[in-house]
Amino acid sequence: MTREEIDRLKAQIEELKCKTAKEVEEARIRFLGKKGELTRLFEEFRLIDKEQKKEFGKVLNELKQSATAKIEELKEMAQGAAEALMPKEDLTMPGDPYELGSRHPVSIVRQEIVDIFRKFGYDVAEGPEIEDDYHVFEALNFPPNHPARDMQDTFFISSGHLNPLLLRTHTSSVQVRAMEKMDLPIRVICPGRVFRNEAISARAHCIFHQVEGLYIDEGVTFADLKQSILLFAREMFGPETEIRMRPSYFPFTEPSAEVDVSCNICHGKGCNICKGTGWLEIMGCGMVDPNVLEASGIDSKKYTGFAFGMGLERIAMLKWRVNDLRHYFENDMRFLQEFDTAIEV
Ligand code: DAH
Repeated sequence: MTREEIDRLKAQIEELKCKTAKEVEEARIRFLGKKGELTRLFEEFRLIDKEQKKEFGKVLNELKQSATAKIEELKEMAQGAAEALMPKEDLTMPGDPYELGSRHPVSIVRQEIVDIFRKFGYDVAEGPEIEDDYHVFEALNFPPNHPARDMQDTFFISSGHLNPLLLRTHTSSVQVRAMEKMDLPIRVICPGRVFRNEAISARAHCIFHQVEGLYIDEGVTFADLKQSILLFAREMFGPETEIRMRPSYFPFTEPSAEVDVSCNICHGKGCNICKGTGWLEIMGCGMVDPNVLEASGIDSKKYTGFAFGMGLERIAMLKWRVNDLRHYFENDMRFLQEFDTAIEV
């Protein structure tokens, strides 16, 4: 053993750098292990003569101490680095239960209707809830003194001028906006919220939802309307469903009809849902009045079209036999949880 050899080892130990606990352990074995460098020096130390023992004893002991301290220090550093990389959370803890919501029945029905008409090639259009008299009434051929314009039905926002602002009373207003904006042929459905100045009861509410449909092209006939509604009704209420049309009146369609579907509960036999008739009313419809086409700049000699409109709460009522309109707006969890189509997250 020489002094140089000891100094070289000392320098090596002082400059040691380890990143991981494994590297530290390797260094410990290399210097302090049973077959390590220091152990070898201590074995050599036993064989040297007394004079030399004096010189080397102290140096060797110091080297062992500093080597042990260095390895200890490196071990702590490697452990600290590993801990810093560890996530702070306890990953073995059970997760918080995530409560799934469910869709509102009106949203479910709206989505079903949109999906059905999308398959038929319809686009979805939307319009403003705050509308003007022109788009809700005038362009739809409502005579100036029509009762629907009366304060009884309509929430007016401004009055006293020619085209007052109001909350739309039906989504037929979006028809007008579609005719103004879109290129022909037009095939749209317009879902949306509507407002009427009604006393709230089981059968009436001041807010509800409608879906309006409009199809305009060359050569569209009442037969197209009837077939479209039949196909829709069968998709919506089941393949056995029949429809019937009763003559009706709307200012914006001529001829106009109301559509009933065969009662999907008693299948026509008569029950308390259909009040013994075997039929349930679902919508109004008709051929777009030429005045309505012309008001929006469409040539009524060349183009014809049909329109229809239905109430979403009513369709949902028929589907799930809900007997009180107010349930839809009260957000009672017991009611909302009845509709088990959980939202996927
Ligand atoms: N807008 C009508 C209402 O609110 C519903 C309606 C009837 C829409 C006939 C139409 C239609 O497009 O052709 O009662």
